[in-house]
Amino acid sequence: MQADLVIVANRLPVDRVEMPDGTKAWRRSPGGLVSALEPVLRANEGVWIGWPGGTDEDLEPFEDDGLHLLPMTMTAQDIEEHYEGFSNGTLWPLYHDVVAKPEFHREWWDGYQRVNQRFAEKCAEVAAKGATVWVQDYQLQLVPQMLRELRPDLRIGFYLHIPFPPAELFQQVPWRRQLLEGLLGADLVGFQLPQAAQNFVRLVRQRVGHKTHRDLVYLPDGRTVRAAAFPISIDFIGFDEMAHDEGVNQRAKEIRQQLGDPKKILLGVDRLDYTKGIYARLRAYGELIRDTHLDVEDAIFVQVAVPSRERVEQYRKLRDDIDRLVGRLNGDLGRIGRPAIAYLHTSLPRNEMAALYRAADIMVVTPYRDGMNLVAKEYVATRYEDDGALVLSEFAGAAEELRQAWLVNPYDINGMKAALLEAYEAEPKELTRRMKAMRKQVAARDVRHWADTFLEELAGVPGNHTKSV
Ligand code: UDP
Ligand code: G6P
Repeated sequence: MQADLVIVANRLPVDRVEMPDGTKAWRRSPGGLVSALEPVLRANEGVWIGWPGGTDEDLEPFEDDGLHLLPMTMTAQDIEEHYEGFSNGTLWPLYHDVVAKPEFHREWWDGYQRVNQRFAEKCAEVAAKGATVWVQDYQLQLVPQMLRELRPDLRIGFYLHIPFPPAELFQQVPWRRQLLEGLLGADLVGFQLPQAAQNFVRLVRQRVGHKTHRDLVYLPDGRTVRAAAFPISIDFIGFDEMAHDEGVNQRAKEIRQQLGDPKKILLGVDRLDYTKGIYARLRAYGELIRDTHLDVEDAIFVQVAVPSRERVEQYRKLRDDIDRLVGRLNGDLGRIGRPAIAYLHTSLPRNEMAALYRAADIMVVTPYRDGMNLVAKEYVATRYEDDGALVLSEFAGAAEELRQAWLVNPYDINGMKAALLEAYEAEPKELTRRMKAMRKQVAARDVRHWADTFLEELAGVPGNHTKSV
């Protein structure tokens, strides 16, 4: 197969999972990257290269619900060194600059290079002459350069879904120059926020020694690379439609009843990741009940925690910490039939997510750092009656756009308590004023806008290319 548009990400949009009875099944993959790119691939004819989860299973290319998917095999060693190791034990904590300490291991770096090379070779094999290849996220930062060496005719874009750190942090990486040069294989390098693009250009100037001017990098071979911000978004219309669906609203009512018809439902939905600030937000909520500002007869906190990267030590520890905290808060503060927190360690399908968003009066999103955070935007998209409150960390990329949220510093527990209480007690008029403005913002800049702007700008970067999508 030869495609004019190739999306390449560490993960495919579907994940091969083993069921309790030993059989294999496909499930939607976790995370915002998949949520954002699925509608993009659907709208543009193309293929998606990625890992289907699991080990050592060679799968043929296949079609899933109209998407052309091309699975990449990973061995147990690839998973350990590339995925759990360098991607999630080195780059993830370093780029988010929170809580967990990044580890630097030479074998992890070897595995990262090996897997990036295989992804690049697969792209080179399936991309048509002059095709556009769009490489996604921190797990594949070497692919642009590796691919350019194999296929100089391609137009190559790269998008980083997570934050890009300032030079002070980035330069800890022993292989910093190789990572920067890897990215410079692209014609356009996209980030969530302008600050990240500036960090990148500055590092390229200082560490690689290339000439730069504003958002442009001039390479010795005459190519120009552009680095700019393209804040990612959601399928606003899709969520708005789901929010109007009768079945979804019926389910939202049912959820409310099942929770004992509380006055207010607070909701958190995150991958179980130490960047998300789940522990601090539950503590803040617990203290509001303990201090009698809130009462478990009136309010309940629903926390959905999606299992994530469970073999990585810090993730395992986080799960234990949250389990213990929820147990303690419910033990200390709950009453019969009235727990303080309803805690689900699971991944929910999209329509159940929409029903939860519809049921929730206050959405609580408090990461220590997050590239964007799509959950915050999805909540806004489902509130077509302009009600509901969003409490949002100022360290989420989404805070740059959703200025009318109750913005909080997740390190400041008292500040979070005050914001939660304010959102809890806000007058309907105040909620409407804030939500209306946020909905307008998300509707105007949806995921189509994100992808179209990126692909148009990629097509416009001067180079020796022949065609564009
Ligand atoms: N999500 C989901 N089911 C769940 C929890 C989350 O489908 O049970 C989706 C959610 O709708 C969103 C994505 O996972 O689209 C999470 O993206 P976000 O940017 O908030 O965080 P990430 O996981 O990428 O760090
Ligand atoms: C974030 C990352 C994605 C990643 C997702 C899920 O959204 O930016 O690249 O796919 O988390 O994480 P996982 O490790 O399960 O792929």
